[in-house]
Amino acid sequence: MAPEESAEAESLLPSFERRFLAARTLRSFPWQSLEEKLRDSSGPELLLNILQKTVKHPLCVKHPPSVKYARCFLSELIRKHEAVHTEPLDELYEALAEVLMAEEPTQCHRSYLLPSGDSVTLSESTAIISHGTTGLVTWDAALYLAEWAIENPAAFAHRTVLELGSGAGLTGLAICKTCCPSTYVFSDCHSCVLEQLRGNILLNGLSLEPDTTAPERHPGHNAHDAESPRVTVAQLDWDVVTAPELATFRPDVIIAADVLYCPETVVSLVRVLQRLSACLKDQQAPDAYIAFTVRSPETCWLFTSELESLLSLVSTAKNDDEHNLL
Ligand SMILES: C[S@@+](CC[C@H](N)C(=O)[O-])C[C@H]1O[C@@H](n2cnc3c(N)ncnc32)[C@H](O)[C@@H]1O
Repeated sequence: MAPEESAEAESLLPSFERRFLAARTLRSFPWQSLEEKLRDSSGPELLLNILQKTVKHPLCVKHPPSVKYARCFLSELIRKHEAVHTEPLDELYEALAEVLMAEEPTQCHRSYLLPSGDSVTLSESTAIISHGTTGLVTWDAALYLAEWAIENPAAFAHRTVLELGSGAGLTGLAICKTCCPSTYVFSDCHSCVLEQLRGNILLNGLSLEPDTTAPERHPGHNAHDAESPRVTVAQLDWDVVTAPELATFRPDVIIAADVLYCPETVVSLVRVLQRLSACLKDQQAPDAYIAFTVRSPETCWLFTSELESLLSLVSTAKNDDEHNLL
């Protein structure tokens, strides 16, 4: 390969690697650029490199993606190769044969490479909705909020973060690994989601505080390694949690991703934000960062109007009580 061709081919590899590890849709891969590269004689070498960075990546070997996903990916790779080269590439067929023989479990993995060189790996359900919840898979807003947090670590550094509706845990794990929070409270209402979440926290090498209540109440509080955040998982249902229970978390920052998917969740979430806005810490109300995908304009409108009512309520209370609120 000529040096400039080699450099171009190398830029394709990280694109394939990142997308495959995170099981992004096959449509999002740079197939067009790959096809162009495959037309030169070094195509097979490039494909073997792609194989090493995807299906044979050490993270994938240890924590495999969904069987169906790997099968569709390899089939597409073979199609691209065969569209330009007449000789089949044995390694691609061998990899496909291995995948075809594997059984599809109900759990699969996704891995996200962090700019620090570290990664977040999650065990997730292979079904978008299972056990009556959407919380067993990662949604786009979680990815978006994680990326935003990585670019804005100061918003979380040395602070207590409370996450609402954590789901599989991507955003929180990315924040714990890159933004140095002092305490991170993951929360959700669904028992299966909480169980998977605890597993994902441990899978990523973080230790869990034994209790799900506020860290200040823990006897082992002072023994904690100052380098890593205190991590807890709380069962927290927005519809039943009380103001005193919320106050025990004493958050500096509240985050939530993709929790505004229907009018009911919008109303419940804003009520919780309202209660949390009264949890002053050092005379400060918590900051809140909410990321969501706009699926329906009505739900988005409802959220903004509920939020406006909350803010006007809060500013009235501020004028009355000189409180500094959300
Ligand atoms: C679409 S998932 C998003 C999960 C994750 N934040 C993400 O973006 O990948 C919505 C999450 O909100 C949680 N949830 C829904 N209603 C809730 C409520 N009333 N109280 C607490 N969590 C709730 C669900 O259990 C689920 O984990």
